[in-house]
Amino acid sequence: MIVEAQGAWLVDADGRRYLDGISSWWTCTLGHRHPRLVAALAAQVARVDHVSAGGALHPATAALAAELCAVAPAGLERVHFSDDGSTAVEVAVKIAFQYWQQNGRPARRRFLALSSAYHGDTLGAVSLAGAAPGGFFTVFAPLLFDVARSPAPGEDDWDRVATAIEERLAQDADTIAGVVVEPLLQGAGGMTIYPPAILRRIRDAATRADTFLIADEVFTGYGRTGTMWACDQAGVVPDLLCTAKGFTAGMLPMAATLATARIYDGFRAAPGVAGGGGSSRALMHGHSFCGHPLGAAVAREVLAIYRDERVVDGVAPRAARIAAMLAQVAALPGVARTRQLGIVGAVDLGDGGYGGAMGPRFTDAALRHGLYLRPLGDTAYVCPPLNIPLADLDTLCDGFVAAVADSLRSP
Ligand SMILES: Cc1ncc(COP(=O)(O)O)c(C=O)c1O
Repeated sequence: MIVEAQGAWLVDADGRRYLDGISSWWTCTLGHRHPRLVAALAAQVARVDHVSAGGALHPATAALAAELCAVAPAGLERVHFSDDGSTAVEVAVKIAFQYWQQNGRPARRRFLALSSAYHGDTLGAVSLAGAAPGGFFTVFAPLLFDVARSPAPGEDDWDRVATAIEERLAQDADTIAGVVVEPLLQGAGGMTIYPPAILRRIRDAATRADTFLIADEVFTGYGRTGTMWACDQAGVVPDLLCTAKGFTAGMLPMAATLATARIYDGFRAAPGVAGGGGSSRALMHGHSFCGHPLGAAVAREVLAIYRDERVVDGVAPRAARIAAMLAQVAALPGVARTRQLGIVGAVDLGDGGYGGAMGPRFTDAALRHGLYLRPLGDTAYVCPPLNIPLADLDTLCDGFVAAVADSLRSP
């Protein structure tokens, strides 16, 4: 039971302190209760709590759209606000699908996704991830829509994955509505990293097929990989980009799906259609909390803090500390594989995958060392706030090495 949170720290009901080594499921990029976010939230709630986005708009929401586009990869000019990462992905899928339905390519009804992907827990997002036997989502298999999938990278053979995507897009350009990827870093699927050149090849293949690239930056966005967006490292501009988690630095559930002008224009009234043509082409997604003013006020302040405190520049020195920690971990007997991108450092403690037995052992060991960590099965990782003080990061890294050593020791 966590009764207090401040910076990188959590305090439980018995007064025990834990370092939040996963920034509360990757959301609290600025730590807990950053004073400027607390103040922005209080100021907004004192004026307007909520107003629906139907026929009305709130200034914070409008300003946020402009500010977000200013830091997004150039060419993403329009924003749809929703409420969490899963929904941001659902919206991207619906936008891509509806776009082709009403812009002359109705046979484009299928999506292409990567193996070992994770895009959220709602049914569209689950469909993208697939329901492989023994995976997270097997029980939902009968409810899912059909998705084309890249081969698994196996022994890091991402070249084969990119080639398969290129071939598939060349063959099935008539039916693929979009390619969906977690750029450079697949999170919940096991902290798998692939090179920027692979992302560029996927972008180029989608461009050649004139279909959409959907970048799910829910995990990778907001500096986690060392650049504001993972796509920036590859010099890639997706047609649709999903963001959540760091978008409000974990203070409120809110998300955004960014789109190009081309896509936006595909939802406007056809030229020369009087009146009614517009609404029948509008995106069919408008729910209670779209563009919530409280979330928007907080999300604006997040961007201001990123600018003022040069948050993304702070990732490199912290990444260097995490690299040193992983070198120590790699030297321990029984460690299978370490890897890192930006502020995320991961290690396989066994080959049992998500159901592996090492995860619970590691979780307990970490708690004993004062760390709140949640391994993905046999894969243990750190993903602290981007602004974690260096002294706290030392505590996290030393505790992580000790917890790995403890959990590898025979019971
Ligand atoms: C890449 C990615 N997409 C989507 C989601 C879903 O986000 P949420 O849990 O906010 O619905 C996650 C969550 O971990 C994620 O890692």
